[in-house]
Amino acid sequence: MTTKRTTPDGSARLIDLPVVSDPRGDLTFVEGGNHVPFDIARVYYLYNVPVDSERGGHAHKVLQQVVFALSGSFRLKVDDGTEKTEFWLRNPRQGVLIDRLIWREMDSFSQGTVCMVLASHPYDEADYIRDYNEFANTLKRPGQKFE
Ligand code: TYD
Repeated sequence: MTTKRTTPDGSARLIDLPVVSDPRGDLTFVEGGNHVPFDIARVYYLYNVPVDSERGGHAHKVLQQVVFALSGSFRLKVDDGTEKTEFWLRNPRQGVLIDRLIWREMDSFSQGTVCMVLASHPYDEADYIRDYNEFANTLKRPGQKFE
């Protein structure tokens, strides 16, 4: 397990958002198609997360996401079927862009963490791969097309 800014092939990588700081505080903004490489179709957030919670445990066939810790911190582990990489999220202007077909898990939440996720598509349970063996088998069929 390595801690880096990116996985070797860039399939999960840190992105830095702009910040406008003045004595009144910091302001960060994000524009779909500009700071993130897709139009933002959905925003969701996790809160009231118990510190020993383990979330994720799935990949997506098509969905791309960017994951942020707006408050607090947590660990994000990603797995492309070959390489495992971990990111520690604790800066609200820094997110991890996760491509399709990447297994992800989140844990080690600090008390009061708020995790925000920007997503490229509306919620669709059919887009999830929740079984690791199915994920591994899907990677062995690289020509497979998902709508
Ligand atoms: P899930 O994506 O598995 O959460 P996490 O990856 O954070 O552990 O989603 C948990 C539940 O919430 C699951 O029943 C699907 C539902 N859900 C929605 O209804 N809409 C959404 O946008 C999301 C992300 C999840």
